[in-house]
Amino acid sequence: MPFPQIRMRRLRKSPAMRRLIHETTTSVDDFVYPLFVKAGENLKHPIKSMTGCFHFSPDTIAAEAAEVASLGIPGVILFGLPKAKDPKGSRAWAEDGVVQLAIREIKKQTPDLLVITDVCLCEYTDHGHCGLIKDGEIDNDTTCELLAKMALSHAQAGADIAAPSDMMDGRVKYIREALEANGFHNVAIMSYAAKYASAFYGPFRDAAESAPSADLDATLKDRKTYQMDPASSDQAMAEIALDIAEGADIVMVKPAVPYLDIICRASHRFDTPIAAYNVSGEYMMLNAAADAGLLNRQAAMAEMLTSIKRAGADIIITYFAKDAAKLITR
Ligand code: PBG
Repeated sequence: MPFPQIRMRRLRKSPAMRRLIHETTTSVDDFVYPLFVKAGENLKHPIKSMTGCFHFSPDTIAAEAAEVASLGIPGVILFGLPKAKDPKGSRAWAEDGVVQLAIREIKKQTPDLLVITDVCLCEYTDHGHCGLIKDGEIDNDTTCELLAKMALSHAQAGADIAAPSDMMDGRVKYIREALEANGFHNVAIMSYAAKYASAFYGPFRDAAESAPSADLDATLKDRKTYQMDPASSDQAMAEIALDIAEGADIVMVKPAVPYLDIICRASHRFDTPIAAYNVSGEYMMLNAAADAGLLNRQAAMAEMLTSIKRAGADIIITYFAKDAAKLITR
């Protein structure tokens, strides 16, 4: 039916009308807030590369987690900065490791807040790679064994969800088997299933001190032998299908905004909940533009999060979670 019977603007004429017909609702229920825990005591240091984010020590992180919970955000994801690094990343599965200590502190204070842990070696290895280096390559299967140990140690400390972000083949299977064998049937796995080798992780690598070391050989200067090529989409579907088959309970696409097409495709194709990681570069790009007076931070943030939801994400991991929760519940 042509104009003037149809006038699309009729449905946009007032705030109430727009509210009535809008298709996408972003709720605080969708958010996960990332937290950085660093070895030490009594720390709450602003992270230079990431405005509004801090390094906490295990003794100060529970108060922050309690604030997150009080805003109605269902979960946090923890990243650890250990007191020492070595070629294997052995502090990653230490019982008294930073993340393990932080989980215990958070669970003491806010037992109902979901604690998700990033499972990856890059913050723990002295070379900065997500896996072990053997004969000039990242050794897939040995890395999987270590990741399973790491995830298990998080579960033993009380974590609810293990989130492997390393992109080794088979890691979900190794982790599921380790959790089952030790009675952690209800600890879930949220795999970073389609994780791209992205330039948008820049601010995070500063924050987590996890960039690959500059003195490695050319093939080891970046993460391109394990993280995905930004030019592929079918491969993302294959990665997600494999992780689901290996036992992932939730699958993630990362980054979010430059990869909305992947989120959209995945949400149509799979019934498993889809998480999207609105990464550090997306966060800081928006902050920098707002600081430069180029756009309205609050409006741009709301639009960015809505677009991720509209693309089909069920869960959004975002450094905006606290700000957005305050806006939504205001
Ligand atoms: C660790 C990891 C990274 C991020 C999450 N987990 C960095 C990387 O893969 O280099 C990035 C998160 C962000 O940029 O916000 N493997």
